Amino acid sequence: MENFNTDVYAETEFVKSLPRHAYTDDNIFKKERHTLFRYLPVMASPSCLLQEKGNYSVTDIASESIIVVRDKEGVINAMANTCRHRGKRLLEKTCDLEPQQRGLNSVVCPYHAWRYDLDGKLIVARGDQSNHSFRHLCLRKLQVQESAGLVFYHGRNKEYLQLQKLDAVLGVLKLEEAKIRERKTYTVKANWKLWVENFLECWHCAPNHPELSEVKGFINQFENGRDDLYLEDDFNWRSQAYTKGWVPPQDRDFEMDEDLFNFNVSMPLGGGRKTASKIGERMGATLGGADGLEGGAIFGGIGPFLFYMAYVDYVVLFCIRPQSTMQTEVELIWLTSKDFQAPVEELTWLWNTTIQQDITLVEETQQGVNSLYYTPGPFQADEYRTQAFTAWWQQWKQRNDQERVKK
Ligand code: FES
Ligand SMILES: [Fe+2]
Repeated sequence: MENFNTDVYAETEFVKSLPRHAYTDDNIFKKERHTLFRYLPVMASPSCLLQEKGNYSVTDIASESIIVVRDKEGVINAMANTCRHRGKRLLEKTCDLEPQQRGLNSVVCPYHAWRYDLDGKLIVARGDQSNHSFRHLCLRKLQVQESAGLVFYHGRNKEYLQLQKLDAVLGVLKLEEAKIRERKTYTVKANWKLWVENFLECWHCAPNHPELSEVKGFINQFENGRDDLYLEDDFNWRSQAYTKGWVPPQDRDFEMDEDLFNFNVSMPLGGGRKTASKIGERMGATLGGADGLEGGAIFGGIGPFLFYMAYVDYVVLFCIRPQSTMQTEVELIWLTSKDFQAPVEELTWLWNTTIQQDITLVEETQQGVNSLYYTPGPFQADEYRTQAFTAWWQQWKQRNDQERVKK
């Protein structure tokens, strides 16, 4: 018999993926809920849906549901979607493609009709107007941070600098003036970390994403060892961008700071393609003011709950929302300029196709990880971002375990 290595303890010199329980243990998920999800920034809505007073959105992550609403003073508030009386959920989540979630004057609980102002203060405790002790009640508040035309909330008491920096990357796209053309939510039967790990590497792209590989030249250039062609495309694209007066944001490949991670890179599409469409031609007008983005893409992520992919005429936001240990919702939001004309199917073709291929990969990875024969495997060089993400998660876990010991 050949000496294939099936020993769990061998090859310790390699950095390996996470152990099974990181993806399967309900207790780990519970700890993530309490000490991770609660503090990390979550993208609640593109700002363009919250322009008017009374516009709101509802976002669900794990067991938390958060209302984000612009109040009568024009301030955006984030508060728990949980009534202070008996805890009933107050507003239902609906898909806000158009700003139909508007015109809210107050939040009325459907159970016993307590009424809250849009900043969360209880204004009517039905039947108990004389009880002044109710007056101090307010929906539990979270921090709101708006950057680059996106509204985030989080449970930290100070702002994330990393979010502020997002404006330097995506601000030129003027997303606050954009239009949401489509949004779709996909349910993935897998742990959220498997999803993020998949999204952070494109080494799997050539064998699994034929459409994406066609649209993005670098996938096959790297696959065929033709880095020279990529460098040529990159040089030409950047030169063209400069002549159009747009400087691609600086690549920050993987920064871990303030308890969240952040990366941003830009790259050419190659092959004379102008945007990520089926035939490579533009589908609409420039989004915001970055004409120089034509022929290239900006890709980045912040959190780990938001990733973005920007092209000259559209942006796709990938919102990752863990729901339980082995269930994750992923919402894709496509934004374009207001006068974008192409049919929605054309706009969504690439990422709607690609994401479904990823869902299959990630769900089948979860099934393999569930097996008693799963052992953490070594990372290949092209998986450096995935490796950095797992290191970030392990750091959080160690810190969390140490704090529990101290207590
Ligand atoms: S639970 Fe909301 S008013 Fe009773
Ligand atoms: Fe993929």
